[in-house]
Amino acid sequence: MQPQSRIYVAGHRGLVGSAIYRQLQQQGYTNVITATRQELDLRDELAVRRWFDQQQPEYVFLAAAKVGGILANATYPVDFLQDNLQIQTNVIAHSFRTGVKKLLFLGSSCIYPKFAPQPIKEEYLLTGALEPTNQWYAVAKIAGIKLCQAYRQQYGWSAICAMPTNLYGPGDNFDLQTSHVLPALIRKFHEAKVQGQPQVTVWGTGTPRREFLYVDDLADACIFLMQHYDDPEIINVGTGEDLSIKELAALVQKIVGYQGEIVYDTSKPDGTPRKLLDISRLQALGWQAQTPLALGIEKTYEWYLAHAQGCTKA
Ligand SMILES: NC(=O)c1ccc[n+]([C@@H]2O[C@H](COP(=O)([O-])OP(=O)(O)OC[C@H]3O[C@@H](n4cnc5c(N)ncnc54)[C@H](OP(=O)(O)O)[C@@H]3O)[C@@H](O)[C@H]2O)c1
Repeated sequence: MQPQSRIYVAGHRGLVGSAIYRQLQQQGYTNVITATRQELDLRDELAVRRWFDQQQPEYVFLAAAKVGGILANATYPVDFLQDNLQIQTNVIAHSFRTGVKKLLFLGSSCIYPKFAPQPIKEEYLLTGALEPTNQWYAVAKIAGIKLCQAYRQQYGWSAICAMPTNLYGPGDNFDLQTSHVLPALIRKFHEAKVQGQPQVTVWGTGTPRREFLYVDDLADACIFLMQHYDDPEIINVGTGEDLSIKELAALVQKIVGYQGEIVYDTSKPDGTPRKLLDISRLQALGWQAQTPLALGIEKTYEWYLAHAQGCTKA
């Protein structure tokens, strides 16, 4: 990939896509092309076919998807499976058909079995039952991985698959109905501080352990992989460190400056007990995340205060 290469970032307004777009600009790539959902609904095969014929990108970062937390998955299972199957199949197939040199497909750590040994190695894929609460999304992502691997096996095409851990950062979704845990905590603690609420309720028992990667680090890893990785095997992207939801809540409380009490609503689901990725394959390539969690949360809170206070999806 050269500075003047024609690079398409699918989903450039999303958390990951906007970070990849930012990073490409910061790293001197001058020919980045995008399309909003209004301009190009990636579920529409004919529209995608026409767009690729017109635009002829050379490299593709596939960061468009229907994404959401436990509640959204449980409420819209058809959309999470069908939309993601359509989006990824259309982009992958028409990228190959129009001669794209290399495509990076973004999956997610929820592809791995619910009770996978920890930390989770790439080879644990399809070795056990999935976490039921987001199985629809996970099955779609696994199909995307297999489609990339199939194109490489049948045509020798360079499609690579990155499996990021939980992401957070500027551009995140702070809607309490559809967001992930970290942005939800930032919003809950901030609103409780501003409104003087005596306590904040956190879902579940607080014991599940999670790993979080700052999205700009993920974007840097995606550009690094596009440059240095060309293998059929999926590759994990994370920090290699995790913490309990209880520890995370305490950290966010401190950074937001909320003085009240934290209570746990144990009637709500915990999800997977632990989800820590084994990142030794990526480390062996020479890549390491740069942003410590506390610093990443501070930057995300600053972004929230400047862009997202009070609104649903930023
Ligand atoms: N967030 C995480 O913690 C996380 C963790 C691991 C992996 N990932 C992966 O990273 C990728 C991006 O996730 P994200 O967190 O950046 O999600 P996001 O913030 O919801 O962004 C998704 C983007 O895809 C676009 N999109 C969705 N459906 C579309 C359609 N039918 N046509 C055109 N564009 C469409 C959205 O457009 P609008 O802006 O118009 O809505 C949005 O820009 C996904 O593949 C996900 O699996 C995310």
